[in-house]
Parts: sequence; C-alpha cells; structure tokens
Amino acid sequence: MISIRDYDEQKDAQSVGILIAETYRKYDLDTASPAEQEKYLGPFRYAWSEEQPHREAIVRILRTEMMLVAEDKGQIVGVLRGKPGRVQSLFVREDYHRHGIGSRLVERCEQECARRGTKVMHLAATLYAVPFYEAVGYKKSTGIRNYLGFGGRGLKYQPMKKDLRPGSAAGDGG
Ligand SMILES: CC(C)(COP(=O)(O)OP(=O)(O)OC[C@H]1O[C@@H](n2cnc3c(N)ncnc32)[C@H](O)[C@@H]1OP(=O)(O)O)[C@@H](O)C(=O)NCCC(=O)NCCS
Repeated sequence: MISIRDYDEQKDAQSVGILIAETYRKYDLDTASPAEQEKYLGPFRYAWSEEQPHREAIVRILRTEMMLVAEDKGQIVGVLRGKPGRVQSLFVREDYHRHGIGSRLVERCEQECARRGTKVMHLAATLYAVPFYEAVGYKKSTGIRNYLGFGGRGLKYQPMKKDLRPGSAAGDGG
C-alpha cells in the first residue's frame, strides 16, 4: 500500500535525490543536450554519489518548509516540495505514474497550506505536467515563461494557480 508521510532528511535525502535526478532528466530535460542536462540537474547529477560533499549539497538544495514523500514497500516513489501558497516541485517515479500518487501529494499539500491560511495556490508547471495540474483543478495564470530553478535556465514553464477557498471555482481566484 502506498502511504504519504513527512520527509525525513536523515533517512530520505539520497532516495529523493535519485528519484528527482531520474524523473527530471527523463520527463523535463528530454529535449536538452547531455551537457545542458548536467547543468540543469545541478547537484542532482551526483545523486548516486556516496561522497559527503555531494550528499550535503543534495540535502541543502532539497530543504524547504513542507516536504512530503510517497512510500511503497519501504521505497520512495514520489516527492512534493512546497511552502504555504506554493507547490515548488513534484516528482513521481516513472513506474508509479497514473496511480493517483501525484494527486494525493498535491491534495495533502493543499490541505496543509489551507490550514496555514493559504487562499490561492501557485506553481510553475513543467510543460509535461500541465495536463496533470489541470486534472487536479489548476488553471493557467499567464502564458508560458522561462524557468529558473535547480540551477536551470532557459527551460519553459507554465504558471498555474488554484483557489482553495470553499465555494470558489478551482483556479478562478487570485
Ligand atoms: C506530473 C506527475 C507528477 C503526475 O503524477 P501521477 O502520480 O502520475 O499523477 P496522477 O496519477 O495523480 O494523475 C491524476 C490525473 O492527472 C492527469 N494526468 C496525469 N499524468 C498525465 C499525463 N502524462 N498526460 C495527461 N494527463 C495526465 C490524468 O487525468 C490523471 O488521472 P487518470 O490517471 O485517472 O487519467 C508525474 O507524471 C511526474 O512525476 N512527471 C515528471 C516530473 C514532472 O513533470 N513534475 C512536475 C514538475 S512541476
């Protein structure tokens, strides 16, 4: 059974790093050259390394206010990084796509954000993820923009939002 739980930095950082490295490279950097992929991956290109400076760099870049993981049989199969009002990143392991894990992670994040007073959620969707976010109630808030994040430059993203206030049509607010 797949469970959603809080991230444990000591225990989970390396598995989460590997999950992000593999999924980001395949789904979001698929059109980049090998050299560009290395650049965009930043510290995640060392996700498999046992060397302490590499491990510490991943721990540092992952740190944020709200972090959830999906676990199946002791393995991390999904991760969401967020903070009040924002989903910062979301990755589900390839062989677990379309099992509802992304939706469960987003829902848990939204619940926690609403509890902390968020009215409207915002995020920068990779172009691959736009249909997923639309399926869970997000709407495009502007046109496509250029991405800055995890050391990457020049990748495209779609700003999206969702109104969490009871009674509001999803995505109409804010
Ligand atoms: C985007 C991603 C997180 C979705 O996770 P997931 O666990 O597969 O999503 P879910 O199973 O909860 O999907 C819910 C609904 O979203 C829609 N959806 C999900 N993936 C989709 C896809 N590739 N194409 C079209 N619709 C999709 C479907 O309507 C789906 O419901 P259905 O399976 O009953 O048809 C996952 O594909 C992923 O990790 N992608 C690579 C990394 C990435 O792009 N992350 C986003 C960064 S912002």
